Amino acid sequence: MSLCKSPAEIEKLRRSGLAVRRVLAKVVAAVVPGATTWDLEEIAQAGIRAEGASSAFRGYRGYPCVLCASVNDEIVHGIPSRKKVLRAGDLVSLDCGVLLDGYYGDSAVTVAVAGAPNPAHGRLLAVTQSALAAGIAQARAGNYLGDVSHAVQVAVESAGFSVVREFVGHGIGTHLHEDPQVPNYGSPGAGRKLREGMVLCIEPMVNQGSPEVRMLADGWTAVTADGACSAHFEHAVAITRDGPWILTQDAAAA
Ligand code: MF3
Ligand code: CO
Repeated sequence: MSLCKSPAEIEKLRRSGLAVRRVLAKVVAAVVPGATTWDLEEIAQAGIRAEGASSAFRGYRGYPCVLCASVNDEIVHGIPSRKKVLRAGDLVSLDCGVLLDGYYGDSAVTVAVAGAPNPAHGRLLAVTQSALAAGIAQARAGNYLGDVSHAVQVAVESAGFSVVREFVGHGIGTHLHEDPQVPNYGSPGAGRKLREGMVLCIEPMVNQGSPEVRMLADGWTAVTADGACSAHFEHAVAITRDGPWILTQDAAAA
């Protein structure tokens, strides 16, 4: 499978990227105290339907839902549940994927429940977002994959937070997960050379405390070993002649 997409394929990935982003916007708008993560799942289901898309996640390796909703110490792959009630001050990571016209879209955001996060949470969100931005800035033809990974790692660790190793970003196209893997840690100049047409999902998972991960008995939910909070942001990024193009972000809403 070629890692480089044609302009026509990138246009399709752009449509999928904007679709998943609109779904996530609806989900984020429904994050209020008292809502359950199952309520968010239902909004994501309806949103995916409204886009004329299908879920990239439900059925993927047996994952049961269209949304991952990971609260506080949950890092990724939290399974929506009627029993999981959101409270003011919680941090909730929302990860969604769609399949539209044969091409995948995949994106994640983390938000605080009920507006202003506490200062420590606010810093975790800001650092994770700027680490993603630092990685994206390195997604240029002629750079190396390690340049992306290293930029993310430095942004996180220089702020005193830690990078999760067990989960990584990925290529995306006619499959949800394509080569190459995109770790959130690495060395400049290491790994594959980046070329025009590659489309990468860059998705730092950042822990407030130690990087250690524990898996819950549901077989999906990854939590921090020390119980501290974690944040996750993800964009799909095309490497173009003019530099990185964030497919999962509306330029007007940047
Ligand atoms: N954004 C995550 C990823 O790219 C979500 C996968 S959830 C799954 O790996 F359900 F699809 F496994
Ligand atoms: Co992903």
